[in-house]
Amino acid sequence: MKGWIKSIRQSKKIMFIAITDGQKDHQLTLKLGEYELIGELKVGASFIAEGYDSVTPRGFDEFVVSKIEIVGKSDDEYPIQPKKHSSDFLRTVPELRGRTKGMQSTFKMRHYLSQEFHRFFCEEDFIQYWTPVITQADCEGAGETFEVKTDWMEEKLTVSGQLHGEVGMMALGQIYTFGPCFRAEKSATKKHLSEFWMIEPEMAFYSLEQTIDFSEKMLKSVLTGVLKYEDDFKKMETDTKHITDLLDKEWVKLRYEKVCEDFGLEFGEDISSEMEKALVEKYKLPVYVTHWPKDLKPFYMKKDDKVAYCFDLIFPEVGELIGGSAREDSYEVLKSEMEKAGLDMEKMDWYLRTRKWGTVPHSGFGLGYERLVMFICKSQKIHDTIPFPISY
Ligand code: 4AD
Ligand code: MG
Repeated sequence: MKGWIKSIRQSKKIMFIAITDGQKDHQLTLKLGEYELIGELKVGASFIAEGYDSVTPRGFDEFVVSKIEIVGKSDDEYPIQPKKHSSDFLRTVPELRGRTKGMQSTFKMRHYLSQEFHRFFCEEDFIQYWTPVITQADCEGAGETFEVKTDWMEEKLTVSGQLHGEVGMMALGQIYTFGPCFRAEKSATKKHLSEFWMIEPEMAFYSLEQTIDFSEKMLKSVLTGVLKYEDDFKKMETDTKHITDLLDKEWVKLRYEKVCEDFGLEFGEDISSEMEKALVEKYKLPVYVTHWPKDLKPFYMKKDDKVAYCFDLIFPEVGELIGGSAREDSYEVLKSEMEKAGLDMEKMDWYLRTRKWGTVPHSGFGLGYERLVMFICKSQKIHDTIPFPISY
């Protein structure tokens, strides 16, 4: 038996030590006079123990120790003591917080959820595709990028893998990316990171409506998938009602103009995070807001005179979880939109060339991975969903 000591409970003749190997928890039982100890038993210390499996009189599994050796010592200043620590405090010790059961399970959930996405995309015949992190392609518009500079290169960190993902779609029909994205804006909210991960599927021949339905199917599938990790929900002290409540109903689809009517917005105004909150509270379900004013949306979206063929998915607790759209597939229209947006046409010619030969109606979306983890784990802040959060 190997692992780390989480707590020590001692009575006269017997000692119980709660331990973890990082994934499974267990109990060591040390009976007075029946074991050999090398080193000092302290919360946080690592150990190797010899002994045998048994069952306590009350029916719990235990490991009865004949010899225990402390491998890495600890002391009373170890910050993760066997009590409830606040998320605020734990954020100050990112190098240690993964050793609490709540954060341990959150990081495990991050792993399980990722497996669920790969499973789902495999079942749907999608190919995982890799897009560059260092790139010029600022697909969401200027002013929010990190620069990458050396004496031989001047580029940026990607804000989204989408534009390169579209290249992959042209070659492979339907692809998804899962990679880090970077946004330099000074947003210090509970749902913004400067470095976060995005899942971005891109599908040839998909309409906006098919894409919306696909995203709903995807989310219901991965959310159902993580329900089986009951033990981790327990350790996060979270039930799963917030998830199961969403699974058996069709999610709400509203045109932007309908939201304007409901909230007294002028056409062209953005939907605030308070309105997002009010929307999901009203329907008690995730809400798709579709067909936004074209001027609010980036150059690559398919548009008519008034609206972009796009959607945001508003989710309980985390607000915008997905942004997606049909893409402009006409060479001429895209060229003119790119010029209007002031893009460097020379540097972005590769993107335009995707529409030159065999262009195809297509759509896709991007899902903020940490926001979904935040929803699943009921994390207080997005900073609690990734081991080393980078944010303003
Ligand atoms: O809405 P966004 O900006 O869309 C895109 O970047 C598209 N190019 C995606 C696509 O169509 N392939 O970002 C997509 C999602 C948001 O809905 C949000 O969940 C997440 O990425 N996101 C962030 N998550 C954490 N911190 C930030 N600063 C985020 N910015 C966006
Ligand atoms: Mg968006």
